[in-house]
Amino acid sequence: MFLIRLTYASTANNLDPEDIAAILATAQKFNQSKNITGLLCFSRKYFLQSLEGSRQAVNALYSKICLDKRHSKMLLLDYGEISKRDFSSWSMAYVPEKQLTKEICLTYSLTDDFNPYKLSQTSAHDLMLELKKALPQEGKSQQTLDIASKIA
Ligand SMILES: Cc1cc2nc3c(=O)[nH]c(=O)nc-3n(C[C@H](O)[C@H](O)[C@H](O)COP(=O)(O)O)c2cc1C
Repeated sequence: MFLIRLTYASTANNLDPEDIAAILATAQKFNQSKNITGLLCFSRKYFLQSLEGSRQAVNALYSKICLDKRHSKMLLLDYGEISKRDFSSWSMAYVPEKQLTKEICLTYSLTDDFNPYKLSQTSAHDLMLELKKALPQEGKSQQTLDIASKIA
């Protein structure tokens, strides 16, 4: 089995905080059962998600996610074998819009707004590693759900 990482961008279809909480609850339960880890960024308008795990498990999950009507305009930014995971502590970490600050966005892209469609493979990865620094390290699943329920 190979370890791979898949990163994509997509556009949210008018989602509310409950939709995000539901996505995270499903993701965290399912991903844990398949040893998939990753990070999901959400800005009301866009998603940026990295999935890490076995090639088979990540491919199967990505196929399901592509069919999900809660988002559209999927764009694959990165797919490849990795030697280690970046998000091994999180079945699905969550980064809300308020953490996608202008400064962070400007550091990794041409403009200060969060637009994952404009990120290169490298800049998307580097941005996610930067965002990882602010993630809660303990009790992650519950904390990410709490955060999701607070986004307005
Ligand atoms: C942006 C986004 C990210 C998602 N990420 C995951 C994920 O990491 N893991 C997961 O199991 N489902 C995730 N989902 C939900 C899946 O698309 C799907 O609803 C879920 O796997 C249940 O599918 P099923 O009912 O066919 O089993 C995500 C959905 C969206 C819109």
